[in-house]
Amino acid sequence: MLITRTSLANAVANGQRLYASFKPAPKLNELDLNPNVIAAEYAVRGPIPARAEELRAILQTNPSSLPFSTIINANIGNPQQLDQQPLTWYRQVLSLLQNPMLLKAKHISDVYPQDVVNRAEDLLSSIGSVGAYSGSQGVQLLRESVADFIFRRDGHEASADDIFLTGGASAAVTYLLTAICSGPDSGVLIPIPQYPLYTATLALNNATPLPYYLEESKGWSTNPDEIREVIVSAISRGIKPKALVVINPGNPTGAILSYDNIADIITVAAEYGVMVIADEVYQENVFRGEFVSMRRVFKDLQAAEPELYANVLLASLHSTSKGFSGECGQRGGYMELVNFSEPLKAAITKLTSINLCPTVTGQALIELMINPPRDADGESTKVYNQERDAIMVQLKSRSQALYDAFCKMEGVECQLPEGAMYLFPKITIPQKAQDKAKELNVAPDAFYCAQLLEHTGICTVPGSGFGQVEGTFHVRTTFLVPGTEWVQLWENFHKQFMDEFRG
Ligand SMILES: Cc1ncc(COP(=O)(O)O)c(C=O)c1O
Repeated sequence: MLITRTSLANAVANGQRLYASFKPAPKLNELDLNPNVIAAEYAVRGPIPARAEELRAILQTNPSSLPFSTIINANIGNPQQLDQQPLTWYRQVLSLLQNPMLLKAKHISDVYPQDVVNRAEDLLSSIGSVGAYSGSQGVQLLRESVADFIFRRDGHEASADDIFLTGGASAAVTYLLTAICSGPDSGVLIPIPQYPLYTATLALNNATPLPYYLEESKGWSTNPDEIREVIVSAISRGIKPKALVVINPGNPTGAILSYDNIADIITVAAEYGVMVIADEVYQENVFRGEFVSMRRVFKDLQAAEPELYANVLLASLHSTSKGFSGECGQRGGYMELVNFSEPLKAAITKLTSINLCPTVTGQALIELMINPPRDADGESTKVYNQERDAIMVQLKSRSQALYDAFCKMEGVECQLPEGAMYLFPKITIPQKAQDKAKELNVAPDAFYCAQLLEHTGICTVPGSGFGQVEGTFHVRTTFLVPGTEWVQLWENFHKQFMDEFRG
């Protein structure tokens, strides 16, 4: 042995060199990286948000060195990073799950309403300790509860066996795409614009994204004929379209699909044997119109025409991160695998088991989201309803205020969102600004967002991170930021930008 603990200690104590005559190899470096990791991009936390963090650090050390005093995070749908307060009911129950000792405390009824105590006790008896791993698919009783919720929502029965509790919807997407993608000849249809989790996960799996374009001039609607064309074209290139992603309500578009539209999309999936991934994380965030789950429409179609729709696999996703829940950091989610064969389900179960289990508090939060306080006259119900309604009213009014502001800006067109938390205005970027962007080797919309950030502290995401029709430029912003001052800042900036570059 060349080196022993004693020889090392002696060498350090005497300031001597160790006797070791080998030539060290170079450090593992970026050339050793998985190229799929290099290819994957996730704009929501891309270069503009990274620059926002640098500016935040500058503001902390030198508050008056920039033309603004704060960073406004309009780049990500993260409500509690802004001013949204957690729902009291959620946190009261969760706190008892984390610290069940409190249930034995003498004066517990001075601190917690009785219905909170009851719910915590019920949950603890089905879960055990939130500090223990659960089964990989999630706690059985909670999955049964999700199945009941789905039945109440859709009017079609669901089975706990098909429910997988997941670490947010993101984990569900990873499982599904990992299970079906086996290289570049695996294709997945994704809406453009899309939420970049999808392109990033496809890149990680070296699979082929098959974009289908949403129609901006028709309120970002989905055209089933276009989906059909994309499928046919992929097949002609030797790519097997394995799945079709539908985000409803849409991110970044805010559009909601109609029942008929969903029926058409499912019919295309049946024609070509493509799995449908229904990303419905914004199903509670509906301000205008009505949300209908893909599952409900699928079950209606299947009931009417069992043979025609027997081949459709539907994965439907939900999350505690969005809506008035806004508990992004708790990582609660579920997916239901409708009509999946046992081998496919077993493959997904294997993937979930490699990760052991989703956080158990996240699982409990799913239960609280789908089963809010039950007692109609209970104290918690009143508070819960008030808090929920206040959040929804604010979201709607903020979306309207921002939409109105965009409608007034020169060269900006915007669709009024029906749901979700985002606006995706189209910006006509003057040629002079496009030339400047080219000089800087960035996309024109990335240049716009960078300028907006540097002048106002408002952090947004360029449309190029979500995909857009070639030659058009968009910006995605959330409407979660409180107040109207920041909207005014944006209006002023936009005017200056146009004055500078209009030519
Ligand atoms: C459309 C869509 N799907 C999935 C997610 C992931 O959400 P989470 O993993 O927090 O549930 C998001 C997050 O913003 C989203 O917008």
